[in-house]
Amino acid sequence: MDVVVVADAESVGRHAAALVLDRVRADPSLVLGVATGSSPMSTYRALHEARRRGTDFSQVRCVALDEYVGIPEEDPRSYHAFVRREIAEPLGVRSDHLLVLDGNAPDHEGACATFESTLRDWGGVAIQLLGIGRNGHVGFNEPGSALDSRTRLTTLSETTRADNARFFPRPEDVPAYCLTQGVGTIAEARRIVLVASGPHKAAAVAAAVQGPVTEACPASFLQQHPDATLVLDPQAAAGLADQPASESTRAR
Ligand code: F6R
Repeated sequence: MDVVVVADAESVGRHAAALVLDRVRADPSLVLGVATGSSPMSTYRALHEARRRGTDFSQVRCVALDEYVGIPEEDPRSYHAFVRREIAEPLGVRSDHLLVLDGNAPDHEGACATFESTLRDWGGVAIQLLGIGRNGHVGFNEPGSALDSRTRLTTLSETTRADNARFFPRPEDVPAYCLTQGVGTIAEARRIVLVASGPHKAAAVAAAVQGPVTEACPASFLQQHPDATLVLDPQAAAGLADQPASESTRAR
């Protein structure tokens, strides 16, 4: 695992976007795994800028990590809507090149199986952008999720529901259930770039990088991934015992 510490959240986005752009330029029809939430927004802004400067995303396929259960796709808080608004429209990714779990399917198990089989047909994820929850979750794999888990219906922890309450009118409106790629599914991405910024991510980052590889911190699976890079601002890196120097990369 590589850890890169850069000056601030905007620099996290520029650095992560450069890693994605390297791959997109080498393979313009690659499969890009995308995260939702606040952490990757600076990365998406940098990718939007790259498109304005001429990078072509029209052949890229995008696969989302997760989706709430019971939120209509058209609702701006759904991850379908996020992926269209923040990624597909500004980057010019075709709508038939988007794969997002169907949180309104009557048969959740069937929806997860269809998702996994489409992902396999697409050849798997070439490069995956990830955020990390305050409790060490990745996707919506909360602490306790098996490190070999697959795409499935699961419940959101109270920590995550409280963290995501900022997107809903009332805390009780945050869905209790979601569909998520499993840790084992995410781990099959050939390259992973996790972005984190802010002091509220420091403990989770430290546990993921320097703690034991354990279901108690699902992001700790990254220690066993052959090609994972964490891009952090100094606050998110503050809990690491052996601090990488700013703007440097260190293999761990
Ligand atoms: C989003 C996702 C989550 C977030 C995590 C951090 O698709 O899967 O794991 O990456 O909850 O969220 P933010 O970035 O909003 O702090």
